[in-house]
Amino acid sequence: LTIRAGSYADELVKTAKTIASPGRGILAMDESNATCGKRLASIGLENTEANRQAYRTLLVSAPGLGQFISGAILFEETLYQSTVDGKKIVDVLVEQNIVPGIKVDKGLVPLAGSNDESWCQGLDGLASRSAAYYQQGARFAKWRTVVSIPNGPSALAVKEAAWGLARYAAISQDNGLVPIVEPEILLDGEHGIDRTFEVAKKVWAEVFFYLAENNVQFEGILLKPSMVTPGAESKDRASPQKVADYTLKLLHSRIPPAVPGIMFLSGGQSEVEATLNLNAMNQSPNPWHVSFSYARALQNTCLKTWGGRPENVKAAQDALLFRAKSNSLAQLGKYTG
Ligand code: 13P
Repeated sequence: LTIRAGSYADELVKTAKTIASPGRGILAMDESNATCGKRLASIGLENTEANRQAYRTLLVSAPGLGQFISGAILFEETLYQSTVDGKKIVDVLVEQNIVPGIKVDKGLVPLAGSNDESWCQGLDGLASRSAAYYQQGARFAKWRTVVSIPNGPSALAVKEAAWGLARYAAISQDNGLVPIVEPEILLDGEHGIDRTFEVAKKVWAEVFFYLAENNVQFEGILLKPSMVTPGAESKDRASPQKVADYTLKLLHSRIPPAVPGIMFLSGGQSEVEATLNLNAMNQSPNPWHVSFSYARALQNTCLKTWGGRPENVKAAQDALLFRAKSNSLAQLGKYTG
């Protein structure tokens, strides 16, 4: 294990520990403008900056959110945005005791030479962007790349994903941002849970190989894995117990205990499913903080309840708080439904 002697080393460890604190997890609200547009369209709203601002104001100002949420991942627009009543969003988060984070990747594009797979862009200029994001108040970063099981994954796609994550992680740490390492293994496909497990093992082996090669400080990163489940179109369904067994087996075989926190993505699971699966993983002590970094599984009901109507803001915030509290209990292994 390599310990970097970079100037931010202690701060990175502290930030990662704060985010990975008992009973708390991450609110992913870093939808790109395109993805945010899809979410807004689902409630009949236009994808304007004003609508995005109204929705994000609702999220960050939910009273008491910081009791359950330790970090919020923002899209670049939101890092520089104010609430509808003119407070900086970053300041609202800090007042709520929530660490602001920033999505730094530039999205997926086709990977030439692969089986119709993709790779994640964003390394060019990343060091200077990261320094600017730190100045603006961000203390952690996210880079999401994906691996597709139906399309392979090819050895090339896995290697590219792992290398990109490792370069990003090293650059983030150099600039004071705790990198969230997210190789999302997409749910799409008819494969069973054993195939997901096999692919995840390969992916995480490569990710840690390159993280080490790039001298990334393991104590100052967070992981954002997919849970190990059957493919979305598989005939098999897995109980929370089975998902927990497979996922913990994967983590134990691949993730060093130096890593402070494992913050799962929800990846299209229902809100309740994502909570139940997390709860099942926290029934006995783990070497890492096992928690959540959900977007859809925290926001779906909240967004629908809001529907773009000012009179529904309070009810929508209550819906968000309800999911946040449920996942907080699941992080502690105490969710009872
Ligand atoms: P979901 O929880 O909706 O999968 O999103 C999490 C995320 O931020 C994916 O990068």
